[in-house]
Amino acid sequence: MRRLRLSLLAFVSALALSANLSAETEAEAWLRYAPLPPELRKTYEPLPCQIVILGDSPVLKNAAHELVRGMGQMLGANPELHRGSSIVLGTFDQAHRLVPTLNPPEKLIADGYWLKATPIRGAPSFVITAVNDRGVLHGVFALLGKIARGESISTLDELQQPYAPIRWVNQWDNLDGSVERGYGGRSIFYADGKVRDDLSRASEYARLLASIGINGCTVNNVNAAPAVLAPDFIPQLRRIADVFRPWGVQLSLSVDLSSPKVIGGLDTFDPLDPRVAEWWRKKVDEIYREIPDFGGIVVKADSEGRSGPSAYKRTHADAANVIARALKPHGGIVFYRAFVYNHHLDWHDLKNDRAKAAYDNFHPLDGAFDDNAIVQIKNGPIDFQVREPASPLFAGLRRTNESIELQITQEYTGQQKQLCFLVPMWKEVLDFDMRVDGKSTPVKDLVAGSVFHRPLGGFAGVANVGLDANWLGSPLAMANLYGFGRLAWNPNLTSETIIDEWTQLTFGNDPLVVQTINRLQLESWHVYEDYTGPLGAGTLTNITGNHYDPAPMSSEENGWGQWHRADSHGIGMDRTMATGTGFIGQYPPEVQKLYETLDACPDNLLLFFHHVPYTHVLHLGKTVVQYVYDSHYDGAEQAAGFVPQWEKLEGHVDEERYRDILARFEFQAKEAVKWRDVICAWIFKLSHIPDNKGRVK
Ligand code: GCU
Repeated sequence: MRRLRLSLLAFVSALALSANLSAETEAEAWLRYAPLPPELRKTYEPLPCQIVILGDSPVLKNAAHELVRGMGQMLGANPELHRGSSIVLGTFDQAHRLVPTLNPPEKLIADGYWLKATPIRGAPSFVITAVNDRGVLHGVFALLGKIARGESISTLDELQQPYAPIRWVNQWDNLDGSVERGYGGRSIFYADGKVRDDLSRASEYARLLASIGINGCTVNNVNAAPAVLAPDFIPQLRRIADVFRPWGVQLSLSVDLSSPKVIGGLDTFDPLDPRVAEWWRKKVDEIYREIPDFGGIVVKADSEGRSGPSAYKRTHADAANVIARALKPHGGIVFYRAFVYNHHLDWHDLKNDRAKAAYDNFHPLDGAFDDNAIVQIKNGPIDFQVREPASPLFAGLRRTNESIELQITQEYTGQQKQLCFLVPMWKEVLDFDMRVDGKSTPVKDLVAGSVFHRPLGGFAGVANVGLDANWLGSPLAMANLYGFGRLAWNPNLTSETIIDEWTQLTFGNDPLVVQTINRLQLESWHVYEDYTGPLGAGTLTNITGNHYDPAPMSSEENGWGQWHRADSHGIGMDRTMATGTGFIGQYPPEVQKLYETLDACPDNLLLFFHHVPYTHVLHLGKTVVQYVYDSHYDGAEQAAGFVPQWEKLEGHVDEERYRDILARFEFQAKEAVKWRDVICAWIFKLSHIPDNKGRVK
């Protein structure tokens, strides 16, 4: 057993200096490790000053350095620290050899950790242990987070386990350095068709991901360039994997299914052709030679113009399995996206419905996917709109692994120019009870694989960070990346807990700052929904252009199928089984009952499921048209109210972030008025029903 002793003091001065520089502060996101106020610092004085590592893997060493860095910056050099006691980092086997009395309260699983205050050889010490090195690293971040938030750790005995094995982010980066639906600058991985020379941001990104328990990152766009698999590109990708590895983050790739033909020299990419299978096998072997801990492959096929198995009349399971079998000997996984739909639907046909596509395509294939394949399902049946019901496909796969795909980048929710904290929205989907077989089966349990005892399952978040100092284009938007990681780790955490953690880590512990930012974040999704898309109406934004501005008719009369069917008589998609598209029939019977009738259907999804006249009276007592007017005026007013709330923080947060965020709220207030006026004028023009408060006429 090799024990490495690190001196805390040596690291302190160099690292503490950097804490006050603002661009760096933004780049550090929730890992600022700002110096604690002296009174709080005092409470940590009994902390051991020596770190003992019971192994020498890069992840363990990194974990120790992180601990030194965090404690150094937050607590500073402290000669009062007790000598002779230690913080011990190691896997459980290693720690148990040192302290045979250690006995975790429950069996640890991969990536979980146990933080335990315990005497070692008579000296008060801490053990941070796990079944694997990555778990130890997670434990280190957890301990540092507690210190940053001023929590007591003296009697610590905490065991945390991840809810599901898969906790990945997807980046939609193109090799030319652009990022599809990215609002935080150019790619941190690529420039001009090559992997960037400087991968320091990629390394910092992996550190941020590791700190919230993310264990994988797909580094290129789902609309994948075949060149990513070219022999000269794979060694370049190895350099990204090398900077991820010390943080326990596995690299994965999106691939184009036609690669065997386009870059492989074959005359086919038919997944059932043995030459194609052989090509994938060799290609995957080649990747593992460069990247031995490669995580796996993401596939978008037969979707939005991408090649797919339909070219050879093969199924999605055939396509997934040919890649799954190549990955299997190496322990790799294939994520096959359920985002498959016809974007040339005939809009004249009222029975056509894009929402039905995922279930129609994948439910019949249940049981046909190999055990190392996962069907990756977007949270809703359309495409990351401000409100959608949970996809019925979550309940439609019993013999297939599944994962939920959530969008961290705010493509349809304000593109980081407007505040929209998405955790409350994600929680509604994750907590939604599908009532499979009449039992409690929330989406979070279906995707974690616990309902049908699947070997794999979990969470994928489309992050799309970029080179901007603040990663996502706005400092407050980083709460969504943090929140995704925390929910992927434990979807039972409340939105309040998550935002409270994030705000304290990002802005410090001043109660006025914490309460104000928490409140703004927690209100923001409802406010955004109120002034953009009411009652589950669907896409009112410009879908043929920027996905940002109001343009309610852009989704109509085209094949994309994001219809709301608004006309002079009424609004909403009739998706009922009785008279509509039948989409509701894809849900288990108890959920069908919730949505099928106007009496039962919740107001906030009414127009997703029903076409109603503008005069239809909602459960809350208003007509649809009056609700649209009121919610848009209320939403715009609340958005305007963000400005004075923020102004109260002047002098309480650093000047640079204060000014930056103030300007964003002022801008958002104007955008909300623009949305309000466009949508209200549109509904009035269609319905000819004036606002009973006289604002729209
Ligand atoms: C949305 C998005 C596309 C993306 C697609 C996907 O439609 O606008 O840019 O490629 O989703 O998830 O594949």
